[in-house]
Amino acid sequence: MEQIYTIEKLDHQGRGIIRKDGIVIFVENALPNEQVEVQVVKEKKNLKEAKVLNYYKQSCNRITPRCPYYKECGGCHVMHLPYKKQLEWKIEKVKEIMRKFVSSNVPIQEIVASEEWNYRNKATFQVRKEIGYFKYKSNLIVPIETCDLVDKKIQSLLSVMTKLDLNDCSQVIVRASKNQTMVIFQINNRFNQTKMIENLSSYVNSIYIKGKKLKCIYGESYIEEEIGDFLFRISPDSFFQVNTNQAKKLYDIVLNYASVTKEDSILDLYCGTGTIGLYMSPYCHKVLGVEINRQAIIDARENQKRNHIDNAEFICSDVATIVDKIKEDYSVIIVDPPRNGLDNKTLFYLKNCNAKRIVYVSCDPVTLARDLKELKEIYHIDELTPVDMFPQTYHVECVCVLNRRQPL
Ligand SMILES: C[S@@+](CC[C@H](N)C(=O)[O-])C[C@H]1O[C@@H](n2cnc3c(N)ncnc32)[C@H](O)[C@@H]1O
Repeated sequence: MEQIYTIEKLDHQGRGIIRKDGIVIFVENALPNEQVEVQVVKEKKNLKEAKVLNYYKQSCNRITPRCPYYKECGGCHVMHLPYKKQLEWKIEKVKEIMRKFVSSNVPIQEIVASEEWNYRNKATFQVRKEIGYFKYKSNLIVPIETCDLVDKKIQSLLSVMTKLDLNDCSQVIVRASKNQTMVIFQINNRFNQTKMIENLSSYVNSIYIKGKKLKCIYGESYIEEEIGDFLFRISPDSFFQVNTNQAKKLYDIVLNYASVTKEDSILDLYCGTGTIGLYMSPYCHKVLGVEINRQAIIDARENQKRNHIDNAEFICSDVATIVDKIKEDYSVIIVDPPRNGLDNKTLFYLKNCNAKRIVYVSCDPVTLARDLKELKEIYHIDELTPVDMFPQTYHVECVCVLNRRQPL
């Protein structure tokens, strides 16, 4: 006879959790209180991963995902939950992680909601004869004709590309700003550039190919985007926040948390194309941005010029190798590291420098919590605001402000 389990709660990746006899089973597409029969698809010591064979009782919160590819495609994780419930779950997840790894006293604000659909300004499509996304946890392709998460200009371009011969490329990246679109083809040497320019030039502002090297074969070498009063240039390989409208809200929170005056010098670590530092530059004495990607630093300097900012400087370097060489004092430090968070050298620097305040922007609450645990000896964690940059997925961005405990 089949065994029926009740889902206890959602884990941090949006999977249902079953606990039985010291074993935890993670179940895709299962919601709290649902009663399910499952099939185990992967097994480790005390952990199993499973899929649902039958729902005996479904949650009143369950909705039918509007995407026809949802079940196979790996891009979205919680489209079977209404957006309001996704937000409730994300804030609960941040609270739980902070309680578990930092303290139950971290003041956590309401999560900042996003538009639910068409929010992504960048899409990475895979090509194996057909164009699509990777199937969940695999290298197989799910062919798609549309994706509701991406900007409408990317949707239109996708529908054009589904009709083209893409045999000589393996990946297509599309980036869009409010008025422009850029496409980057990962190619082999049989790729017909002339044909592709003919096919796409009326739809895009810029076409790049990437074989051994990255090369612009049509139009401008970058696209431009506005955030608030600033105009930023985006090159094919530079980081730019994927949800532009939310980026403005995120930067406003950073600005508010940093609470700088004309006396303050800002160190913007992991600065990408300089966006956060430049956004804050009118309110402070000066800004130094540090970033490892050479092209992003070229963009940052260009962004500085086009926005007529004369109190910012940018250095291309690994943050970990430069922090112990920084001699000058910075009163406010912004950190926005990749998913793996801060390394030990940078944590050491932050603990021993003379900054009065740190604003930490994080795309992974677990590594954020690990780093806050280190920093809280020296800094008081004043407030944390989660920002939803990625509706329909389990990801959540956080901005946190820390103030030095002992006045300098
Ligand atoms: C999450 S992005 C933040 C970018 C920027 N703050 C923004 O809002 O657009 C992280 C950035 O850190 C850069 N990065 C990654 N590892 C780095 C390192 N070890 N040292 C310096 N920069 C690094 C990446 O290239 C990327 O531009």
